[in-house]
Amino acid sequence: MAIMLSKLALAALATQASAACTRASLQAATAEYLDALSSGKTAFSALANSTVAYQENDVVVDLSKGVLGQGGIKIDFNRSLYDTTECASYTEIVATTKHAYVIGTRLAFGGADNNKITKIESVVCDDGDWLFNAAGSLSYNKKENWDPIPEGKRDSREVIKAAGDAYIDAWGDASVKPPFAASCARLEGGSYISGNCKLNFSPPFKVTNRRYTIDEELGAVDIFHNFPFLDKAIARDPGTQTNNLLRVEGGQIRYIHENTVCSKKGCNK
Ligand SMILES: *[C@@H]1O[C@H](CO)[C@@H](O)[C@H](O)[C@H]1NC(C)=O
Ligand SMILES: *[C@@H]1O[C@H](CO)[C@@H](O)[C@H](O)[C@H]1NC(C)=O
Repeated sequence: MAIMLSKLALAALATQASAACTRASLQAATAEYLDALSSGKTAFSALANSTVAYQENDVVVDLSKGVLGQGGIKIDFNRSLYDTTECASYTEIVATTKHAYVIGTRLAFGGADNNKITKIESVVCDDGDWLFNAAGSLSYNKKENWDPIPEGKRDSREVIKAAGDAYIDAWGDASVKPPFAASCARLEGGSYISGNCKLNFSPPFKVTNRRYTIDEELGAVDIFHNFPFLDKAIARDPGTQTNNLLRVEGGQIRYIHENTVCSKKGCNK
């Protein structure tokens, strides 16, 4: 009996530990990451340690060689999603001065209380990437409304994720009909396409390697994934590193932000 109880107690502890990441803890750690990025620090207390997994554009790099090690980036705009189920955050970052960037960073949390950053993945776009224009990204971002969705009107995690998957699945499968709002608008690089978000390409293909961050309060899902054919220099499999961030309102896709990395200027088009 004593053994059974301690097993139960351990199980209870384990459940507690995995549930311990809160919106507030994710917010605090993400703010630390942003401060480190703006001041050019590669060490900060939210990091689990100095050798956490760090990837830019799907390539493992040393923290000091990546965007955190560039001596400080002046951030003009940032917007974050907090996923308290997966213990992760996603932040969209726009910098228009000096070296202009649009960066999407996913922080994954772990450790005893799930409040230490154990993995950082960034999509880092700059000059020459797909439709890159940081000033455009900044101005369109500021015009959109991403206020928290009122409590009674929030979509479930499943509905938000399904909308994101449908958007991506429809590219290679015309039978998939994503739930677009009539006012759906897409910020693709720094270009804005309003009133029609539908995309479909042939021949049929599948988009793989999807990594999700979902925030019910913002009605948002971010998906890191690979795109099969955009960049002529990169094989269909794995494809180009890209990212789509969606805002879903009442089950319908309202905004889409896409940032795609090119191996050479304009993806060799
Ligand atoms: C990120 O955005 C928030 C909300 O607009 C702002 O308060 C904060 O200062 C920004 N952080 C950085 C490092 O620019
Ligand atoms: C650093 O943290 C990562 C992520 O939690 C872990 O996998 C790795 O073993 C840690 N390294 C050291 C030296 O403790």
